[in-house]
Amino acid sequence: MRGVILAGGRGTRLGDTTRVTNKHLLPVYDQPMIYRPIETLRGMGCDDILIVTGGENIGGFAQLLGAGFTYRVQEQADGIAGALAKAEGYVDGLFPVILGDNYFSAGFTMPDRPAIYTTRTDRPQAFGIYEPGVGRIVEKPKDPVSDLAVTGLYVYDDRVFDVVHGLTPSARGELEITDVNNWYLSHGLMDVHEVPGVWSDMGTPDSLLRAALHAQAAAA
Ligand code: DAU
Repeated sequence: MRGVILAGGRGTRLGDTTRVTNKHLLPVYDQPMIYRPIETLRGMGCDDILIVTGGENIGGFAQLLGAGFTYRVQEQADGIAGALAKAEGYVDGLFPVILGDNYFSAGFTMPDRPAIYTTRTDRPQAFGIYEPGVGRIVEKPKDPVSDLAVTGLYVYDDRVFDVVHGLTPSARGELEITDVNNWYLSHGLMDVHEVPGVWSDMGTPDSLLRAALHAQAAAA
């Protein structure tokens, strides 16, 4: 099975640490960050993985990971759904997509329908939040009505590329993955599962440290 890691973006929330390198090449305890999403996809049965990243960073990934991966360039950091558009033609059928800065302590079984994975958070303003009553996601809500964070692991089918091509940029100028997921949810084509184990993003100094401490404890 083929899977996709989205590892573009600018990593501005990590300040100077991402000025000369890509966020996903930074260490998380004893391993480069990108090893974590690779492990998650392999655990779901992926033997072929596409890494989408900014053109200036392809060299770093290729040097670290070498052959055995496919690389594609996202010319502009125009959003997570913009990065996903680059996977068109690489995948078909049902396939998993993971954000390169997402840490999952436990493995996943590949579902038989498109899916998202949620977990409780004490920082609902920082994530896409799933509202179970309404069956939709609100991206970084100012007044959250739920604490169910939508994590950065998604399962899609071929339809996703038509959905992505129909998107318009959000107020922050990005093609939002939340708009893609809301399309699937509103058409009854997506299941919502709970994340097994611990989840953290790694996109801020605090969340990166939290993931590193968890990885350290898990390795002990
Ligand atoms: O971590 C989960 C959260 O990720 C979700 O709860 C949100 O719904 C989702 O929008 C996303 O929010 P973030 O604000 O944390 O996304 P961020 O811009 O930090 O991007 C996360 C990853 O996506 C990043 O590590 C690489 C990839 N990415 C991002 C952008 C903006 C790309 O590959 N290309 C991009 O242009």
